[in-house]
Amino acid sequence: MKDLKNNIGLPVKLDQNYKLIFEEGLPRVSPAVRTIDEMREVLVDKTINSPKELYYMYRDVAFDKDRAIEKKHALRYDITVIKPDKLGKELMKTAGHYHPGSFPELYEVVYGSAWCLLQKPSKKDYKVIEDVILVKAQTGDKIVCLPGYGHILINPSKNEPLVTSNWVGTQFSSDYSLYKEAEGAAYFFSEENGKLNVEANKIFTQLPKSIKEMFSSAKIDKFGLEKNKPIYPLINSPDKLRFLNYPSEFDFSDAFVTKT
Ligand SMILES: [Fe+2]
Repeated sequence: MKDLKNNIGLPVKLDQNYKLIFEEGLPRVSPAVRTIDEMREVLVDKTINSPKELYYMYRDVAFDKDRAIEKKHALRYDITVIKPDKLGKELMKTAGHYHPGSFPELYEVVYGSAWCLLQKPSKKDYKVIEDVILVKAQTGDKIVCLPGYGHILINPSKNEPLVTSNWVGTQFSSDYSLYKEAEGAAYFFSEENGKLNVEANKIFTQLPKSIKEMFSSAKIDKFGLEKNKPIYPLINSPDKLRFLNYPSEFDFSDAFVTKT
């Protein structure tokens, strides 16, 4: 059992089966389970049958007292638990999706390490990718998924789960279809004999020359973000989360840094 309370700012524990336990009056949420059969299309090896369950999505976690303000500001808070495992040779990952309307999203690494692969498709042709950013984040780091970029999360650890939380606007539903059509993200990350392999997804007709490797900014005042400071309490200053629903009003150029 891992007590996540200090990291996430909510009375939540993670049990040995990678399920969350909600305490101290925080309403329990049942997770949506992502299974291997739902993921098959986006895997390098489409024949594997384990692990059966890959990750758990706890959508719309909140204290009852915060519901009204969430509704008023069109905000939702989720927690995702990604198991430590491999998908054949591939690193453990999420299915990937775009946000219709180019809305951003705010992630926090609550436990473990995260690689977030952001990709920006051309508006004319989703098989042309104009930019790819790999954000390498640790516990306490924040990841701003940029407007116009799709994203997957990778758990690079075979031993430790990855737990993330996120704030997102409620004006859209995530679109998983283009990741399925492309049979995955722009790049695949595999590991064999301890060696990392990064392979371009050949379904894309154009990819940038290289992946930009970036890291989380330690502090972004305008979004109320600071390393090791949980993002759930931002519900008490919803103006800090305004960028999620009104991205055109904000500058995102300081979301990442090139060195830790
Ligand atoms: Fe998203």
